[in-house]
Amino acid sequence: MQVVAGSSSPLLAKRIADKMGAEILNTVLKRFPDGELYVRVENAGGDVVVVQSITSNEDLVYLMLLLDALEGSNITAVIPYMGYARQDKKFKDGEAISIRAVAKLIESYAERVITVNIHSDRAKRYFRNLVDVDAMPIIGTYYRNRDIVMISPDFGSYERVRVASEFAGCEFDYLEKERIDAETVEIKPKKLEVAGRDVVIVDDIISTGGTMIEATKILLKSGARSVECACVHAVLAENALNRLYSAGVKGVIATDTIEKSISKISVADLIVDALKSD
Ligand code: R5P
Repeated sequence: MQVVAGSSSPLLAKRIADKMGAEILNTVLKRFPDGELYVRVENAGGDVVVVQSITSNEDLVYLMLLLDALEGSNITAVIPYMGYARQDKKFKDGEAISIRAVAKLIESYAERVITVNIHSDRAKRYFRNLVDVDAMPIIGTYYRNRDIVMISPDFGSYERVRVASEFAGCEFDYLEKERIDAETVEIKPKKLEVAGRDVVIVDDIISTGGTMIEATKILLKSGARSVECACVHAVLAENALNRLYSAGVKGVIATDTIEKSISKISVADLIVDALKSD
């Protein structure tokens, strides 16, 4: 098996290749003066794994070109962060279903696709042969033996946080919106008392950080002693990290599906297991 490290995932690709005992193919990735991208992959053949997260439009074009350069190989596309998955239906008439377009593109080249915590079950349905790996157990394990409470910022991440808390061996809860009267909405933990506790908010994605910041404010107001944030995918748009720290967050960690300074946990073992299980 050969591994191609895409522009957005060089470190994770190396970790996967090392664990598989696989060769990393030499690639040329460059930009022409007019902004167009160029890709060359040397000596590909047989079973090839391409590792490329989609964190930007440029990543998507590089992915498309890498897949095309591998014509004739048996391709597995490892897309640790599957961007465009949040637009998984038509919210308004006339909209594109972005993840459907991305799925069609990838599967027109790749035999199988491996990703990590894709945003929704609905997004999965647009793929023919997708393995969606769950990073919540390794996030939970990272916090094992810490005296913490895990909180989901909303009901949408309840199941994810339930799994993480099981591996952390701690209590968990989610923030619930309660309408008090026509003008007042109160958001608070559904059942747990967080006063005096160290809290870790867990979610799949930190993009602008808005969700985590709101949750942090509520938890600190409820008397939490400290608040940390953990996520699978550190998109970190719009100075999210600065804004999180300014809001009083003590620490932020993520996996390496998107390679950032806070990527303290690697999904390499999970991806290698998925690669071997087929
Ligand atoms: C929402 O459905 C997701 O689970 C995340 O909560 C959301 O994508 C986070 O985005 P942001 O950081 O911009 O609030």
